[in-house]
Amino acid sequence: MDFGRVVALRDLDVTIGDGVTGLVGANGAGKSTLIKILLGLLRPTSGTAQVLGHDIAAEAPAIRRVVGYMPEHDCLPPDVSASEFVVHMGRMSGLPASAARERAADVLRHVGLAEERYRPMGGYSTGMKQRAKLAQALVHDPRLVFLDEPTNGLDPAARDDMLQLVRRIGHDFGIAVVVTSHLLGELERVSDHVVVLDGGHLLRSSATSDFLEGTGALLVEVLGGHAERDAMGQALAGAGLACRARGAMISLDPPADGVPVHDVVRDTAERLGLGLVRLQADHRRLEDVFSDPAPAKPAALDHAEESR
Ligand SMILES: Nc1ncnc2c1ncn2[C@@H]1O[C@H](COP(=O)(O)OP(=O)(O)O)[C@@H](O)[C@H]1O
Ligand SMILES: [Mg+2]
Repeated sequence: MDFGRVVALRDLDVTIGDGVTGLVGANGAGKSTLIKILLGLLRPTSGTAQVLGHDIAAEAPAIRRVVGYMPEHDCLPPDVSASEFVVHMGRMSGLPASAARERAADVLRHVGLAEERYRPMGGYSTGMKQRAKLAQALVHDPRLVFLDEPTNGLDPAARDDMLQLVRRIGHDFGIAVVVTSHLLGELERVSDHVVVLDGGHLLRSSATSDFLEGTGALLVEVLGGHAERDAMGQALAGAGLACRARGAMISLDPPADGVPVHDVVRDTAERLGLGLVRLQADHRRLEDVFSDPAPAKPAALDHAEESR
């Protein structure tokens, strides 16, 4: 896909299945462009694609009937309430008036907009706006939704809520989801499959579990401060695990095959009388995937993010 001299996407060949697919890439990687092409909103310079069996060039209207779209940028008229807006969008997708009202009430409840749905959207917080944008993408009961940066501008708590919602849409409502973010860590938590774009190229497409296996590293956190962290770290090192401090946590290098690392961590915490807060797969930063798309070198952890 070219925009004049800018090549936004190149040689992209990828298949997206059911469940939640995370589309990850730095700003400018081509995520929004890819979504717009798949919706038939942009015509690719070359290449073809199918969405739910429909060709993007020939059958864009048929695609838009069965696909929902939450755009990245604010698209909400400020003088209109979320309730009116979502009903209107339902009507635009061909629902009769009464069905549009019913569906709008349902989806607004699902996304967690309560009484405020009757207020003009101009006065909404970013979190409420993102929820209204999400509701309009779901009103016509699509089989697939594209969610472009739904966590943008949200504080950590609202971010978690939104990610929970994304997961529910994919798993409880049975709607296939393609969700974008520039943060691999947050998409790993909700995606069954992750597609990584870098400068318009496909860098990687794999099941999320393969991603985590590729890292193999674990993060451990115990209750207390640095003293407790260091005691735990020393005990783990004594048990033969390679580890290092990582902010308030301990990062464990991928263990040798057959080492029951989860058991070792639990037993060690118990022996020291320390409360285990966290034992989870390490979330690598996007940059780590970029520099190392193959299974991780332990060195990738040395410059691991301190702020998590
Ligand atoms: N309408 C446009 N005109 C010119 N360049 C564009 C346009 N839309 C996107 N681009 C460029 O294409 C590249 C990919 O953009 P985009 O798909 O928005 O990336 P992302 O959503 O991953 O941040 C960027 O270099 C961007 O500047
Ligand atoms: Mg974008």
